Amino acid sequence: MHTAGGCKPMLRHAVIGYGRLARALVPALQAAGHGVVIGRRRPAASDLTAAEATRQADWVWLTVPDDCIAATAAALPWRAGQLALHCSGATPLDALGPAPCMAGFHPLKLLAGDGALSGALSGAYVGIEADAAHRPALVALAQTMGLVPLNLPSPMSSQARAAYHAAANLSASGVLAVLAEAQALWSAAGLPETQALAALLPLTRGALDTAFARGLAGSVSGPVARGDAGVLARHLDAMAHTGLPADLLRALTLRQLGLAEAAGRLDAAQLTALKTLLTPG
Ligand SMILES: NC(=O)c1ccc[n+]([C@@H]2O[C@H](COP(=O)([O-])OP(=O)(O)OC[C@H]3O[C@@H](n4cnc5c(N)ncnc54)[C@H](OP(=O)(O)O)[C@@H]3O)[C@@H](O)[C@H]2O)c1
Repeated sequence: MHTAGGCKPMLRHAVIGYGRLARALVPALQAAGHGVVIGRRRPAASDLTAAEATRQADWVWLTVPDDCIAATAAALPWRAGQLALHCSGATPLDALGPAPCMAGFHPLKLLAGDGALSGALSGAYVGIEADAAHRPALVALAQTMGLVPLNLPSPMSSQARAAYHAAANLSASGVLAVLAEAQALWSAAGLPETQALAALLPLTRGALDTAFARGLAGSVSGPVARGDAGVLARHLDAMAHTGLPADLLRALTLRQLGLAEAAGRLDAAQLTALKTLLTPG
């Protein structure tokens, strides 16, 4: 660690593995005033190896695929006082194995870009898993980077970790899976596939904007929320004619029904009629 201008303690960071997460993390660390070196598996002339980068750093970020964290950590030349971090919400800290100290810092953000992404993390929550000695510095770093710190229990049980990660995954790629189903229905209606996302995504965006403002139950709309059993019956009938499996539509519609019920939108007769339609057989 060294100081800038003789007052603010600055950290030297090594980021091992320059993929999608690293391309957002590196500019965010630099914008926060920290020094960053990048360690790569196959370094070009101007790059460092993972071991060289680690030797230069106070904090070492392992931004490699989740399944490679343990093997990568085991191969690095750790020294006393260094902190190892990973960004995987699915991986326990002990994957960082031989490192002297360990922490997790998981941005709740889907990063799919290939280019350097300055500001890509700003506004996202970040799950922080750390001991009492390191948590304050990680919280402060998150705030400086424009992230919202989310304090996770440490240690975190494996079930809680898996549930936390599943929730995050469902909120990002799970929504994409719902849209893939909507796109399949759109095509089954004989409409041009090229227009599907352009037409459907504004609906998704509108629902998400409303959910931010009013919560989930306060935002649900459509035939289920109105108690229109006849429309739902026609949806299920259309699904059967497409040859697409109806399981996902039924499961998602039951969830909508729960939200509409929680919002007090449906009376007992409407609930019974809708539940009957959604119960197979
Ligand atoms: N992408 C996201 O949306 C996101 C969001 C939150 C958290 N995360 C977490 O961030 C971490 C990195 O994910 P990512 O999406 O950035 O992955 P990624 O795009 O696949 O990049 C991983 C990088 O690790 C290196 N690498 C690849 N295979 C390796 C191997 N077999 N052994 C060692 N290093 C290898 C490569 O960098 P070099 O070529 O430079 O060596 C690669 O670019 C994961 O733990 C993930 O869970 C990702």
